[in-house]
Amino acid sequence: MAPLPQDSLKHIVSLAKRRGFIYPGSEIYGGFANTYSFGPYGAELKKNIKDLWWKTFVHRRRDMVGLDGPILLHPKVWQASGHLDNFNDAMIDCKACKARFRCDHLIEAALNQSADAMSLQQMTETVRNNKVKCPKCGAQDFTDARHFNLMFSTHMSKTGQEGDTAYLRPETAQAIFIDFKNIIDTMRVKIPFGVAQIGKAFRNEITPGNFIFRVVEFDQMEIEYFIRANTWEKTFEDWLASMHAWCKLIGLKTDRVHEKEHPQELLSHYSRRTVDLVYDFPFGTSELYGLAYRTDFDLSRHAEFSGQLLTYTDPETREKFTPHVIEPTFGVERTILALLCDAYEEEQLEGGEMRTVLHFSPLIAPVKVAVFPLMKKEPLADKARMVFDLLHERWNCEYDESGAIGKRYRRQDELGTPYCITIDFDTLENDTVTLRDRDSMKQERILISKLIEELNAKINN
Ligand code: GAP
Repeated sequence: MAPLPQDSLKHIVSLAKRRGFIYPGSEIYGGFANTYSFGPYGAELKKNIKDLWWKTFVHRRRDMVGLDGPILLHPKVWQASGHLDNFNDAMIDCKACKARFRCDHLIEAALNQSADAMSLQQMTETVRNNKVKCPKCGAQDFTDARHFNLMFSTHMSKTGQEGDTAYLRPETAQAIFIDFKNIIDTMRVKIPFGVAQIGKAFRNEITPGNFIFRVVEFDQMEIEYFIRANTWEKTFEDWLASMHAWCKLIGLKTDRVHEKEHPQELLSHYSRRTVDLVYDFPFGTSELYGLAYRTDFDLSRHAEFSGQLLTYTDPETREKFTPHVIEPTFGVERTILALLCDAYEEEQLEGGEMRTVLHFSPLIAPVKVAVFPLMKKEPLADKARMVFDLLHERWNCEYDESGAIGKRYRRQDELGTPYCITIDFDTLENDTVTLRDRDSMKQERILISKLIEELNAKINN
């Protein structure tokens, strides 16, 4: 598959804003770095992704339950999880212009060399010895590299006085681990089983960027799948296959999705094996999702720090043990970015005209059907509104009667709407409409009475 052109990202960013998918955060105040707002179509897209994910991994499986835990967890959670000690990036500041960089990114960009395995001292020396220049001002005068914890902190006021420092969760996972006991006490779950959660996570990323790829506030869709230790390898492979199947289901081109094994020395503090699903973004191949074998690290640590028993008792043998965990994790913003990159096309039509189209799968498209009267006059408009009312009950539909019909099609192409229906003079004669397919642009005539059945089969949702 041809790589996405590097400059396609800027066209995607522009379309996303122009068509109401994604706006820069706090724009009327001059923007607020690396925050974004999902506009009306972006909100629909996001909701469709989350709903489909929940349906796929919770409702359609018998071994899964859901959870909706809090963003603010007891501060001890982050001691136990290791995030207070280990969830760091190395940062470095330019002494001349005060710009701050992630040191590994600075080294990689300047020297085309990986800094993943370097200590802070090695990074400092690499920057100095190679006379790396500040990408902002060109000076060669940096501070030493030092650790920077990525968790956002805030304060909980308990008795009217400033209370303990609390942290906005940097991953949704911990809420699942600390409710493990509640779940096994209240639900009839049997190992192997999983707990799924969708929610916000926050990271004070030093050098965010590439549009919504790395942001400070994002949604995660995570699963903690509890198993017996001796089944971890097979369960890991099963989840890897399920993650690939998900990419296919949402319509990503499968040859743009690859696996990247983390080398042992670079594994997160909790993981014994991690494989990322990476996607060929226009700015390079980068992490889309992750799959980790977290062992019994989290449950054991929470048992130790809370003093509670976080074990599972086998209902047949009465054997007690601490389950191990396989964790598939999916970022919603990265899903949206990959979908936008994958679906975006500037297509040259016969006759030389260009059209921009988003080839979204009908499963996740924000608008499923658009209904147009050929002209904004009665009785065409009245009939079109009747067809719209019929379909609007089932799917998110749009009604549009303004402007030339060609322009209305182009607008829906840019929104990724898979089907457009036009009501014309023949409709008044024989109750048929034209049904236009976004990708082929072919139109077929179809009886209004057959529309729901036909669209049901096509949209499959
Ligand atoms: N619980 C494991 C965990 O949080 P992670 O690889 O750090 O693992 C999981 O994050 C997923 O969250 C990533 O694969 C990515 O999709 C998404 N993600 C992580 N940091 C992000 C950021 N700053 N902006 C947007 N998405 C992010």
